[in-house]
Amino acid sequence: MGYWFEDPTLKALAPLALSSSIRGLTTIFNTPKIYAGFNVLPEGPVIGPTTMDALASQCPQKRAFIVSDEFNEPNAKKAGSFLESGGFATRVWARVLPEAPIENVRACAEEIKQFEPDLIMAVGGGSVMDLAKGAWILYERPDLTDLGMISPLDKLNLRQKAILAAVPTTAGTGSESTGAAVFHDTAIQRKIPVAHDELVPDVAILSPEFTISMPPALTAGTGLDILAHAMDAAIAPSGNDYTEPLALRAIEIVFEWLPRAYANGNDREARFKMIMAANIAGIAFGMSGCHLTHSFGHSLGAVYEMHHGLCVGFFIPHSFQFCARVTNKHLSICKSLDIPAPNAREGLENLLVKLRAFLTSLDVPLALKDFGIGKEDFEAKLPKLVEYAYGDISCYLSPRPITAPQCEKVMRYAYDGRDIDF
Ligand SMILES: [Fe+2]
Repeated sequence: MGYWFEDPTLKALAPLALSSSIRGLTTIFNTPKIYAGFNVLPEGPVIGPTTMDALASQCPQKRAFIVSDEFNEPNAKKAGSFLESGGFATRVWARVLPEAPIENVRACAEEIKQFEPDLIMAVGGGSVMDLAKGAWILYERPDLTDLGMISPLDKLNLRQKAILAAVPTTAGTGSESTGAAVFHDTAIQRKIPVAHDELVPDVAILSPEFTISMPPALTAGTGLDILAHAMDAAIAPSGNDYTEPLALRAIEIVFEWLPRAYANGNDREARFKMIMAANIAGIAFGMSGCHLTHSFGHSLGAVYEMHHGLCVGFFIPHSFQFCARVTNKHLSICKSLDIPAPNAREGLENLLVKLRAFLTSLDVPLALKDFGIGKEDFEAKLPKLVEYAYGDISCYLSPRPITAPQCEKVMRYAYDGRDIDF
């Protein structure tokens, strides 16, 4: 039996499933309750509603299981101290591994079952938040043994035992506001995406303080992940009047504030803006989906073990050039960024100039060959690159349908840094 994302019916439905009600389906605006700022985990008195109000009222047992990784253990402990100040009993499990391997998800779920929390809190980057979502499913639904079989159309009935709070420590993935999670099936070396409306966390706690320690390369990579989410969402066929303005705002913030966060990681205002942008873009693409930046980026990242944000950011220009044959939605991005666009073609050209200059300013090469990938090695791995890109669920949400031979052509053009002209 195949995974849910290999089901041809679901693939055919994918472009419609996230679509607006004008196509006969229901639009759902589903977000966590969001707290953002430098005082979201207060140690002293605060004015107005607090994060604790949102958590304690929903957790009568006051038992919090905190999921984190080694790097973020101090942040997890800080969150734990905050919860204890509100009367919670806590346990910190800081053993999340990169890329959320399935066996790691199961190990976490076993610990959760023993502790019996009514609050699960993820404190970390994308892998931590994704893993917490998977472990939460297994805690709530021990009858579900295979996460890869969970279809977006199933009813999960989560929240019978615990709610989920997410505290991102990077500004990129947006997982704190999406129903998406990606796990790694190490037995077959494959990424297993799960997308479900019920997986959107109940509470998102955006503490920019946690992102200050990110080094410049990670700041750029995670920032480009935001940009890819937002730019895909801005032109997605499944976008709507909720998602598109959010996507455009996230794009504006990234162009204005990522250079500052990249140049000076201690710029608190820039860090605050970027964690907000990640969340805003997460809400947008969580509902409209992202597409070609991520199908190509996932493939590149899997084959060459490169950072997710760097890979998806790299493919933004290629994705836009490919999609511009069927959509002129990029004109709204031009308008947001004050880019001259007397017509769709010139708007695209001017947008690409700005995008490429932006990538260059963040030290991101514009051709795959400039990442140090040799021609022979690229040719040897090209079939895998194409298989992964074309097989990625994001492909099916593209404004312009793409074939496997076109995926190969895009990869070849990307290797040389050529303009997509087909
Ligand atoms: Fe992403």
